[in-house]
Amino acid sequence: MTAQPTRQLSDGSSIPLLGLGVWQVPDGPQTVNAVRWALELGYRHIDTAQAYGNEESVGQALRESGVARDEVYITTKFFPNARDPLAELEQSLKRLGVEQVDLYLVHWPKGGPLRAWAGMEQAKERGLARSVGVSNFSAAELDQVLASGSVRPAVNQVQFSAFEYRRGLLEAAERHGIVLEAYSPLGTGRHLKDRRVTAVAERTGRTPAQVLIRWCVQHGLPVIPKSTHRERIAENGSVFDFTLSDEDMAALDALDTTGGTDRARADKWW
Ligand code: A2P
Repeated sequence: MTAQPTRQLSDGSSIPLLGLGVWQVPDGPQTVNAVRWALELGYRHIDTAQAYGNEESVGQALRESGVARDEVYITTKFFPNARDPLAELEQSLKRLGVEQVDLYLVHWPKGGPLRAWAGMEQAKERGLARSVGVSNFSAAELDQVLASGSVRPAVNQVQFSAFEYRRGLLEAAERHGIVLEAYSPLGTGRHLKDRRVTAVAERTGRTPAQVLIRWCVQHGLPVIPKSTHRERIAENGSVFDFTLSDEDMAALDALDTTGGTDRARADKWW
């Protein structure tokens, strides 16, 4: 894999466009292996969360990889059923074995979009998180944080793919200088078999996963595909040596099933 392209955030930090997501990967060898392989293969961005329960394994893999801490971008997320973002981050740092995370996100707007934000701002002020942001926030929820917070969220991480092309939410984020980050770019695997995606893959000589990940990259968005298989982690990382044509991008844009929504989820689990 070649050098990792990055995108600058509003607070001046930079986030690598490609990351490995470890949602639903159990703590232990599966997470350790996935993260170690990703780092071996050149990934420099790992996305975990307190709710995933696998931060210890992420930390172990980071140490075992031999890659310097300051070369890897680490995101974790505040589990919003808990009370105190700062206290929870201190625990995360212990589990990860690092002194600071690069990005700390409110995992979902439980109790309203503002409930956790003061604690998130403190986490940044104290230097425990280089950047702070949110996840699963709609445009209206972003507005509330922007109206009353003193720190602007750097990122809003949401379910986003060609099939969930939340154009309204993307435009709202861009207008406010918030970088939208895409999770579930493969639709947790569901989108890989769609014949309109496989047709683009055949035309470009790439795999469906590479096409869907490249679509995010070409929109300038950080993206965190998840896999526990080494070959797939490698495949998903090889998206910087080809370009989708304008026609193929337009064909993929047209797959949206959300009506260009400015909401973050159709199904809220909170
Ligand atoms: P696995 O972890 O067994 O490799 P998303 O990133 O949208 O959440 O999608 C993740 C799902 O897609 C996982 O079930 C993962 O399975 C599967 N997956 C990830 N990369 C690939 C790939 N390159 N080819 C096929 N399936 C993939």
